[in-house]
Amino acid sequence: MLETKDLVVGYGNVPIVRGISIVVDKGEMVALLGPNGSGKSTLIKGIVGLARVFSGEVIYEGTDITGVSADKLVKMGIGYVPQLNNVFLSLTVEENLEMGAYIRRGESRVKEDMENIYELFPELRRHRRSKASNLSGGERQLLAVGRALMSKPRLLILDEPTASLSPKAASLILSKLVELKELGISILIAEQNALKTLQCSDRAYILVSGECIAEGYSKDILSSEELCEMYLGLKSMI
Ligand SMILES: Nc1ncnc2c1ncn2[C@@H]1O[C@H](COP(=O)(O)OP(=O)(O)OP(=O)(O)O)[C@@H](O)[C@H]1O
Ligand SMILES: [Mg+2]
Repeated sequence: MLETKDLVVGYGNVPIVRGISIVVDKGEMVALLGPNGSGKSTLIKGIVGLARVFSGEVIYEGTDITGVSADKLVKMGIGYVPQLNNVFLSLTVEENLEMGAYIRRGESRVKEDMENIYELFPELRRHRRSKASNLSGGERQLLAVGRALMSKPRLLILDEPTASLSPKAASLILSKLVELKELGISILIAEQNALKTLQCSDRAYILVSGECIAEGYSKDILSSEELCEMYLGLKSMI
């Protein structure tokens, strides 16, 4: 569904991630893991046209989308949830969801889809008339995901949706993403929360200093002492 080929991404004249080739197959949840500053966000920004691609390609459903901007990608079925500033704080929950459907203005199914999102995230229904600024961190992340879902994506790309959340809120978000995957949405997720993410993803890539140093099935990574202890700050699950 999504593939990067030997991608080099950075800012200005400085390449940050180098030679990254990843694949997300249809129906998969794939994780990008690695420490602070390893380049997870930069790689994602390169994929969604928000950072400079120096070389390499991004292919989505057989089409070269290298450098295509995030707003065009929405129309192609890619939802992107950035790490920061991912909801409109001065708007209500319902207004944020409506904004997520801006590419579908006038469609009668928008209300129906909002209803589906409230079914999936009852927390949002409870707060539908509250301003996003009044939501907890976890509720805001649910809203950011809900907003992205309003554009009916086939692929959802999330940048650290559990950052600075409590363990309980982080688990809730990740379990909702697994539900979305089961509904048929493919997922690419950057995370620092390696243990929880490996427990719910199918495969993962580990970035260190801008390079991909390992990839594999999440369960195999979890049982690799070297990868867990050296790169992910985890005791392996053997
Ligand atoms: N806009 C920018 N201009 C220049 N350098 C940047 C910019 N954004 C990030 N960087 C640099 O790129 C490197 C990778 O940062 P990036 O945000 O991709 O890491 P990350 O893996 O997402 O980290 P975190 O887990 O903390 O979010 C860092 O050294 C950072 O300082
Ligand atoms: Mg980041």
